[in-house]
Amino acid sequence: MSKIATLEIDGNKYEFPIIEGTEKEFGIDIKTLRNVTGGVTTIDPGYKNTGSCESGITFLDGEKGILRYCGYTIEELAEKADFLEVAYLLIFGELPTTEQLTKFDEDIKEESHVDEDMKKILDGFPKSAHPMGVLSSLTSALIAFNPDSVDVDSEEAMYDAIVKVLAKFPVLAAWTMRKRKSLPLDYGDNSLGYVENLHKMMFSRPNKTYEANQIVNNALDKLLILHADHEQNCSTSTVRIVGSSHAGLYASLSAGISALWGPLHGGANQAVIEMLEAIKADGGDTAKYIEKAKDKNDSFRLMGFGHRVYKNFDPRAKIIKVAAEEVLADLGIEDPVLDIAKGLAKVALEDEYFVKRKLYPNVDFYSGIIYRALGIPTEMFTVMFALGRLPGWIAQWREMRLRKEPIGRPRQIYIGETERPFKSISER
Ligand code: CMC
Repeated sequence: MSKIATLEIDGNKYEFPIIEGTEKEFGIDIKTLRNVTGGVTTIDPGYKNTGSCESGITFLDGEKGILRYCGYTIEELAEKADFLEVAYLLIFGELPTTEQLTKFDEDIKEESHVDEDMKKILDGFPKSAHPMGVLSSLTSALIAFNPDSVDVDSEEAMYDAIVKVLAKFPVLAAWTMRKRKSLPLDYGDNSLGYVENLHKMMFSRPNKTYEANQIVNNALDKLLILHADHEQNCSTSTVRIVGSSHAGLYASLSAGISALWGPLHGGANQAVIEMLEAIKADGGDTAKYIEKAKDKNDSFRLMGFGHRVYKNFDPRAKIIKVAAEEVLADLGIEDPVLDIAKGLAKVALEDEYFVKRKLYPNVDFYSGIIYRALGIPTEMFTVMFALGRLPGWIAQWREMRLRKEPIGRPRQIYIGETERPFKSISER
């Protein structure tokens, strides 16, 4: 039997249906709240208790540390699937057959060039520009060069827009890095797989034959899969809300990239390595930094720790920690910051402050150590996150459009001045 929630305001009772998800999650459906109560709204800064949509893409149980894409566990996908299969799964809801995957791959390859004039836009940025800002701008600029992809309503037009951006985004991401490194821009090689090609586009040298490294490509593939979707996080909610105004896919993605940039979200992977480096430079005293993180008068936070939804181990962090150790061992790299990270995690996981608040290492805690081992510069870490998150953003945008969700427009409770007469400048 369906559940009902009852709300009482000033003796008046209102009933609201409770929606049940397939994983026994319950949400009070307050769509009629303002109408039936004569304008009463809810207030929930940071949306800690607010469900913005019903979604069939990703399931996350933060208490149990569970993450599944379309029903498949993240552990199994990271072990057995490749990134393109996972992208297809997220966007279309099912793992692809061989034919579907081949077509998807070929369609992406067909679009894997970027208009030469995009280089002029890239040229306008100083070398010191942060790659996330450049990537957001270039993604937005794609609109001008692909106007057909803006107003996409039919499934067919959506498919074309999706394939185009999956193809061009790695080119743009690689270009942001090459520009910083003063390397000539590269269009990659369509005979390579998606991830291998990304790696080539980032690292190939004009005077050297590119040689693929399977350890590196497997690690990259796994990292991209682990980042591919995470339900209604800050950047994904941004993509959905921008898209809800019927701005096109690329405009929505560009906004998502900006949201991801912040250090409380995807930017944490860069902030973690910078923090670990600072601790190392300061003598490696992890206890000192744990105390700083606990001190409410100190703005320092343990970056890569804590999560809005996970109140248990982030399953992605568990996989990445093991992968980091394997990649460093396979590549014969010793990185002292891995020991500092493990030391910090050990102390934090036993410390009452972190235990009481259920603060565990999140996806960003160890990922930077792998990126570094793969030769990726620190300021590119969040770009790597964006490359992984791209299929998730696309899937969520497509779902929002196909479900014909209304424009996102939250309410507020006004706490400013009530009406007052205008004061001329001489009276102020
Ligand atoms: N270091 C120290 N204290 C912390 C930390 C931290 N990293 N994270 C949370 N807390 C404390 C916080 O001060 C608060 O304490 P109190 O209850 O005494 O006021 C309590 O834990 C709850 O924190 P909150 O800020 O209310 O939690 P939130 O859900 O609003 O924020 C978060 C989640 C991820 C923004 C936060 O944990 C944080 O800032 N972590 C560091 C940045 C980080 O690693 N971000 C990456 C998140 S995972 C990747 C992604 O999907 O974006």
